[in-house]
Amino acid sequence: MAPLLRMTWHRRHLLGLEELTREEIVTILDLAEQFTRDSQPGRQKRSHLAGKVVVNLFFEPSTRTRMSFGLAARRLGADVMDFSPSGSSTSKGETFIDTAKNIEAMGIDLVVVRHAATGAPHLLAEHLRAGVINAGDGAHEHPTQGLLDMFTIRQLKGRLEGLTVGLVGDIAHSRVARSNIHGLTKFGAKIIVCGPPTLVPRDIEELGVEVSHRLDDVLPRCDVINMLRIQFERQRSGLFPSISEYARLFGMDNTRLKKAKPDLLLLAPGPINRGVEITPDVADGPASAILDQVTHGLAVRMAILFELLAHGGDARETADDPVPIGEPA
Ligand code: CP
Repeated sequence: MAPLLRMTWHRRHLLGLEELTREEIVTILDLAEQFTRDSQPGRQKRSHLAGKVVVNLFFEPSTRTRMSFGLAARRLGADVMDFSPSGSSTSKGETFIDTAKNIEAMGIDLVVVRHAATGAPHLLAEHLRAGVINAGDGAHEHPTQGLLDMFTIRQLKGRLEGLTVGLVGDIAHSRVARSNIHGLTKFGAKIIVCGPPTLVPRDIEELGVEVSHRLDDVLPRCDVINMLRIQFERQRSGLFPSISEYARLFGMDNTRLKKAKPDLLLLAPGPINRGVEITPDVADGPASAILDQVTHGLAVRMAILFELLAHGGDARETADDPVPIGEPA
């Protein structure tokens, strides 16, 4: 396979899609496409990141992101350490920064951090020499989810440009919504955010999106719908009358799906509340790419780890210095 001619990658951290350029996003998506072959089960492990150490520093629960980063790092030959607050010395009063600096003192290269507080990854990036990847900070951003959503759309729709993408549900508490908006608008996609007025921030239009509170009105215009989970853990109560009312107005079932374009692509970042945002028959049906997203997430995270650890901040790499990834290193 011919080596890729790729743009120089200078970033040491991935903190959000807001600050990435369109070209940087394309670089990651293109590299992920190459790594797609390597994210299949049974593929030979690579050694691009041999000797590098990645730590998963998750202060909130995760299944997909944490396991995907762990597997992606191992597939590239890195060592992986896993931190969970339960059973750690945070229960003895150790601060977030002290915990991270002590782990860094063991000789790590990259921290993948998830935290309930907005800006926690940015704080780590200021205090650590290691690179930092934001794996979800409060309701702010979840850039790797945004990138894997974009990768899935590009793979299954063939493009990002000119598509109409509906983000449905709990926009106010969704870091996935923000990363999708920042990423997709850079490619000229039209974004419609749709949810109950109490779950759509008043100033969201400033991000260049259309706002609707009636899913049935906007669904027929959408090429892609991303059904966001109601973030019960971040909400105060009383933001909508009842779960059944929410499901009736904003949930996706087969009756509502018939009002959509026949080739509608249905995404959900997961985990899903079955029967609330999406009925089981739709979640498991032909329009749904929910498990494709998870599969693609592995390749996207391999690409991100590769760029940050093999290239991050390395001014010596140029487009004339291509990186062959077609064969094991
Ligand atoms: N989509 C997502 O971030 O899933 P996890 O919370 O399981 O990581």
